[in-house]
Amino acid sequence: SMNPIEDDLIFRVGTKGRNKGEFTNLQGVAASTNGKILIADSNNQCVQIFSNDGQFKSRFGIRGRSPGQLQRPTGVAVHPSGDIIIADYDNKWVSIFSSDGKFKTKIGSGKLMGPKGVSVDRNGHIIVVDNKACCVFIFQPNGKIVTRFGSRGNGDRQFAGPHFAAVNSNNEIIITDFHNHSVKVFNQEGEFMLKFGSNGEGNGQFNAPTGVAVDSNGNIIVADWGNSRIQVFDGSGSFLSYINTSADPLYGPQGLALTSDGHVVVADSGNHCFKVYRYLQ
Ligand SMILES: *[C@@H]1O[C@H](CO)[C@@H](O)[C@H](O)[C@H]1NC(C)=O
Ligand SMILES: *[C@@H]1O[C@H](CO)[C@@H](O)[C@H](O)[C@H]1NC(C)=O
Repeated sequence: SMNPIEDDLIFRVGTKGRNKGEFTNLQGVAASTNGKILIADSNNQCVQIFSNDGQFKSRFGIRGRSPGQLQRPTGVAVHPSGDIIIADYDNKWVSIFSSDGKFKTKIGSGKLMGPKGVSVDRNGHIIVVDNKACCVFIFQPNGKIVTRFGSRGNGDRQFAGPHFAAVNSNNEIIITDFHNHSVKVFNQEGEFMLKFGSNGEGNGQFNAPTGVAVDSNGNIIVADWGNSRIQVFDGSGSFLSYINTSADPLYGPQGLALTSDGHVVVADSGNHCFKVYRYLQ
């Protein structure tokens, strides 16, 4: 499915459905260092795995409320160990599966209220964005809490609706704050570093930011849900550019990641597909 019109789209995968390579309200996206794209297919209660060029590889997930089952997977990340980490919003925990989809353990039970996004830091710690509790947890892979920060509000160290997280090469944590229309950056102790964005349609403004990723130069790529676009910022939060999505518009983009071959992959949730874009550094 090559794109005949010259925007930045390389290809798209998926339609609405319940079969392999089909999606129902896909949310989180991750990319592995070994050339895989992982999609949290929230209303199909599974994770689907593709190659970087969009070929379906596998999927796993059984709907349910018991350990090892998925009720609403919204966030996905790949641990350096190869394990697949899944934030399950409705089960209120984070499940850890092996790379071939075998359930290993769950963490955060009884602590998380509504985990949406998940990421992994440079120490192999698991960053969980608790959307309902308006805070961020940092866990060891065994479930021990390293740090927790944030509360509900519009202050610097508060969130009005945090959604997704990314980690830069300085091990700083980048969080999208959906209802504050901003992106906030913290160090690994949870101290506030900087924020950017305000509500609007202009360059550098947001209407509810969702997915976030960071490139090797520290540039921050943000999915702008309500404006249905993807913006790129430098590490200090200055607007740099857009990804050109004009030929096949996004509709409510959610999770976003950078693939191991240097492309941007985004969950185009309203269109029930994922899209892969050129991203020139
Ligand atoms: C985006 O791509 C379209 C083609 O789909 C092109 O006409 C337009 O000029 C591009 N916009 C920018 C800002 O490059
Ligand atoms: C976001 O937070 C800032 C303070 O950091 C506040 O001035 C602004 O009004 C908030 N935006 C919204 C939409 O609540």
